[in-house]
Amino acid sequence: MSLKIAVIAGDGIGPEVTAEAVRVLTAVRPDIEFEHALFGGAAYDDCGDPYPQATHDLLASADSVLLGAIGGPKWEGLERSKTPEAGLLGMRGALNLYANLRPAKTYAALADASPVKAGADCDMLIVRELTGGIYFGKPRERRENGTVAIDTMVYSVMEVERIARRAFEAARTRRSSVVSVDKANVLESSRLWREVVETVAPDYPDVELRHQLVDSCAMLLIKDPGQFDVILTGNLFGDILSDEASMITGSLGMLPSASLGDPKNGQAFGVFEPIHGSAPDIAGQNVANPLAAILSGAMMLNALGDSDGAGRIETVVDAVLNSGVRTADLGGSVGTTEMGDSVLAAL
Ligand SMILES: NC(=O)c1ccc[n+]([C@@H]2O[C@H](COP(=O)([O-])OP(=O)(O)OC[C@H]3O[C@@H](n4cnc5c(N)ncnc54)[C@H](O)[C@@H]3O)[C@@H](O)[C@H]2O)c1
Repeated sequence: MSLKIAVIAGDGIGPEVTAEAVRVLTAVRPDIEFEHALFGGAAYDDCGDPYPQATHDLLASADSVLLGAIGGPKWEGLERSKTPEAGLLGMRGALNLYANLRPAKTYAALADASPVKAGADCDMLIVRELTGGIYFGKPRERRENGTVAIDTMVYSVMEVERIARRAFEAARTRRSSVVSVDKANVLESSRLWREVVETVAPDYPDVELRHQLVDSCAMLLIKDPGQFDVILTGNLFGDILSDEASMITGSLGMLPSASLGDPKNGQAFGVFEPIHGSAPDIAGQNVANPLAAILSGAMMLNALGDSDGAGRIETVVDAVLNSGVRTADLGGSVGTTEMGDSVLAAL
């Protein structure tokens, strides 16, 4: 069955890396129909809205979405609701993308790039709740003439249960271990989180569950990242821990991610994107590493049931790295399009 994929190239290096991902996906799946949409800073420049209705309609009607990256200094001074980041949060909420899956794996060919001694053993999946917690809780406001600021951490049983199930199910396809991360010694929302995860666990007797406080998890990630298989956590802790985990692999430009909602017409639906941002410092120079975007395409194919296509891309990326081809972030001098060329040639 042919696929309709919405493409948000975005800002900064987004268009450069997304172009390579589209080239590779086209080679693997010539039947994919790509439709481009404006979003983030580019959409604000076009119509004053980072998440225009026309973009929402296109995304909602697509089989899935491929996103580059958004944001940059050009849009930093805008009122909060107009920023590219507000567009991103708005999209996650509007499309109900509650499950953020971030694999962090050190490639054998890049083991020396890890800044951490034990980094070569890193192969984990962070399952982060994406539409709740402190990024969405109300009230969020200033009081007392702007001298007091309030954010609110809220979680409901339903929100915790559905993300916990995603984590247990993902663990079944990996090494059958879930570490649920919270701050239950201090936060009431974390106590609820822990209780709900405990009630879900018996449905997955084949998966081992452990609870870990977020501060000690941050330490263990550096000391012994190899012990983690699936990390299940909330929006704020997941944001921070997943960036920490990505650095352990030594290569921000290598890591893909998926933000998933409930299946649509029985099929997975989500936004697939590199974990890196728009990298304004290197935008327009053809030096960005496009592999995270290309691997995001593989993750998308996998979620949509084409594990053969996904496997082909992943195998080829491994082969290209093993052959010594490297962009600047990996210590080489190959450009963005040349890295795309190498992947296409290996395919
Ligand atoms: N989902 C998203 O679109 C997303 C995620 C994170 C940050 N951002 C936005 O991106 C902008 C820049 O943020 P930042 O600088 O903190 O993070 P960043 O990820 O854009 O860049 C951090 C560093 O990593 C480098 N880098 C990132 N991706 C790379 C790649 N593919 N190849 C080679 N080097 C790469 C950059 O050059 C920079 O030195 C901000 O406006 C931020 O809000 C967007």
